[in-house]
Amino acid sequence: MKRLPLLISLLLSILISNQIFAQKFDQVGKTPQLGWNSWNTFGCEIDEHMIKEMADVMVANGMKDAGYEYINIDDCWHGERDAKGFIQADKKHFPSGIKAVADYVHSKGLKIGIYSDAGSKTCGFRPGSRGHEYQDAISYASWGIDYVKYDWCDTKDINPKAAYTTMRDAIKSAGRPMLFSICEWGDNKPWEWATDIGHSWRTTGDIDPCWNCEHSHGSWSSWGVLRILDKQEGLRKYAGPGHWNDMDMMEVGNGMTEAEDRSHFSLWAILASPLIAGNDLRKMSDTTRKILTNKDVLAINQDVLGIQALKWIDDGDVEIFIKPLDKGDYAVLFLNRADYEKTYVHDWAFNEMKDDISKHQIDFTKEFFNFKNAWTGATGDTKSKLNLTIPAHDVVVLRLTPKK
Ligand code: GLA
Repeated sequence: MKRLPLLISLLLSILISNQIFAQKFDQVGKTPQLGWNSWNTFGCEIDEHMIKEMADVMVANGMKDAGYEYINIDDCWHGERDAKGFIQADKKHFPSGIKAVADYVHSKGLKIGIYSDAGSKTCGFRPGSRGHEYQDAISYASWGIDYVKYDWCDTKDINPKAAYTTMRDAIKSAGRPMLFSICEWGDNKPWEWATDIGHSWRTTGDIDPCWNCEHSHGSWSSWGVLRILDKQEGLRKYAGPGHWNDMDMMEVGNGMTEAEDRSHFSLWAILASPLIAGNDLRKMSDTTRKILTNKDVLAINQDVLGIQALKWIDDGDVEIFIKPLDKGDYAVLFLNRADYEKTYVHDWAFNEMKDDISKHQIDFTKEFFNFKNAWTGATGDTKSKLNLTIPAHDVVVLRLTPKK
């Protein structure tokens, strides 16, 4: 008889400890994460001086004020593991250690992210976290890390859900809130199983700074803006506050035209993707800075409802996306995919909007909106037809507000 209470209390304590430990941190990632990451421009050529400079620039150039928060060190910061298996920073490029860099980034009012991999080796052939997950999470917490990007190289025969769950649990038990960014390239449909594991998951392979290209690297390809956009089909129902479809770090300022950069940024924003700049912030043009810090577009991305835009109208070269926003507002994006300028007439009254996923509906013959163009500041309303001229590869982004 005495055994029963003991058994029950044992079961209870297991249940309680699972409640506490086996969940992701839920106070981060409520809106898509905004930040910068070293990979797209620097690859493995990174060091502590450069990372600290990026934090300085993010504060000085208005990005922090616009909402950017994370400075993320991608692959290749690693040295070897010590005798007990704890990971060390590469002594040559990070001689002060990661904690010193984290302290510096924090002193600027920003947060810091780091990178690891579910396999034994990262994609850059540095030590991965396989078999060291809890140890690594403890190190990250002790250094003051706020964000972990967790990659998927060297993972043959590893179960993806189990691998990402292990790291989630390791991070949770290390006790410091960290955003957990799953980077599994969409290979195993993480949108179907990662809602409770990560705060975002990559939906595709790596991005390239080009409009509509595929670059083959043998066993994998990297993709331009339109290619990544088209791979989002069917995924919007999986996104929401705390769990986002990640369209990959941005290539704004990395060689595309101004129109393409504007479209890339606006599309990632309206599709509620994390917005992680991937350019050299120290050298960017004023045009690039203005794109990255457009507060109207950022507000669309950061809207509290966290609804990923719907492709509302597909008119061939012109596609129209719509995103329900807080307080009855909507963001509407007109994309010109074509290589030439398009004139386009949009008759609001003729096009009802019905979103079965977010349960929003608009009959534009009965409901009227004022709008503001997020890129030009021009205003208008939905009572009359909209006549647009959209340059090649460009967008028009409007924020609709109900007429009183
Ligand atoms: C993979 C990821 C990239 C980057 C590199 C680093 O390709 O998808 O985003 O992190 O690895 O090696």
